Amino acid sequence: MTANPADGPTEQITVDLGQRSYDILIGPGLVDSAGAEIAARLTTPRAFIITDTNVAPLLSDRLAASLTAAGIDHQTIVLPAGEATKSFGPFEKLVSELLRRGVERATTLVALGGGVIGDITGFAASTLLRGINYVQVPTTLLAQVDSSVGGKTAINAGNGKNLVGSFYQPRLVLADTQTLDTLPKRELLAGYAEVVKYGLLGDAEFFAWLEANGAAVLSGDDSARIHAVAKSCRMKAAIVAEDEHERGQRALLNLGHTFAHALEAETGFGDKLLHGEAVAIGMVLAFELSARLNLCPPNDVARVRQHLAAVGLSTDPPPHPKGQWDIARLISLIGADKKVAQGKPVFVLARTIGDAFIARDIDLTDVEAILGRAVAA
Ligand code: NAD
Ligand code: GLY
Repeated sequence: MTANPADGPTEQITVDLGQRSYDILIGPGLVDSAGAEIAARLTTPRAFIITDTNVAPLLSDRLAASLTAAGIDHQTIVLPAGEATKSFGPFEKLVSELLRRGVERATTLVALGGGVIGDITGFAASTLLRGINYVQVPTTLLAQVDSSVGGKTAINAGNGKNLVGSFYQPRLVLADTQTLDTLPKRELLAGYAEVVKYGLLGDAEFFAWLEANGAAVLSGDDSARIHAVAKSCRMKAAIVAEDEHERGQRALLNLGHTFAHALEAETGFGDKLLHGEAVAIGMVLAFELSARLNLCPPNDVARVRQHLAAVGLSTDPPPHPKGQWDIARLISLIGADKKVAQGKPVFVLARTIGDAFIARDIDLTDVEAILGRAVAA
């Protein structure tokens, strides 16, 4: 724990990747000290803030003032809020605009926003001029605990999420927990699903802590929030340091995601089912599949379901937007996931809460049975 002179306690975690190592700072008020933290890590004081239409009026002036105070020359580019921004058209516009405004190899992009802004900015940074620096200033809970850390950058393509992208690490992550105060409750809850994911995949004690303190995290208790974000980032940092390119254990971070991506594809990757909401349902399905295969005690499934429901997350898919869920179609979407290996979908299953593992040889009739129950619920 280090002291943040501006506002209070700040947690510091290092993602240990040799020469590409970087810090994650977590605490209240970091937007206002971002300039000094970024300046300390730049060779050239020149930056672009990339943000979205919802976040810009809330935070971009404060971040800009902090960059100015630290002597960083900067401009701001505001993209439309929403998942549709993570696609080829907006990506082309963004990189063209950056080039038009004179981005150089030593310029740094600062992503101020949720996972959409972080992912498209990271991808732009990884491709512009063969790679320039970027910093993540995540402002959603999902982005603070997951998308801003670990260097996965992407845009969507066709009907698939994140199909065009790269592994490209930021230089710094600044997670200001106070920014979550303006986040809509639904977005906060969706991000909370990713926090629960860490307990379920690798830390039963943390899951028990969330059972007791999840309400405090969601209601805005600063120390509970900092603890939840820091614990999540610490777990993610350790996994990424071991397996940056997802050749092994990093896939554990996809607990619930094989199901989630199929549900999101069917609901149109938008407001009908947010990514984190789909992950919550997907994690229940992953535990149900584990129990069906006698790998995990049924009581664990009940505990997972109970905690997610207690905080207000759905644990079964919503009604299909066009009438009826088609299980065969969901199975084919699962088969089209980018994590398919040698034609077989990869599932993350669990032996118990806090002990997940990667499974590649799952009989799809078991998956069909689980999905059939879920959509009938
Ligand atoms: P998002 O970026 O769309 O943000 C959600 C909404 O909250 C948006 O409307 C945004 O404008 C608004 N918002 C952001 N910060 C706010 C604030 N402080 N106050 C008020 N409103 C605010 O969505 P998200 O949930 O942050 O991220 C989802 C994206 O992240 C998806 O595209 C997903 O694929 C991606 N993702 C990437 C990774 C990765 O490792 N790179 C991991 C998980 C998810
Ligand atoms: N969100 C999963 C990962 O970063 O690997």
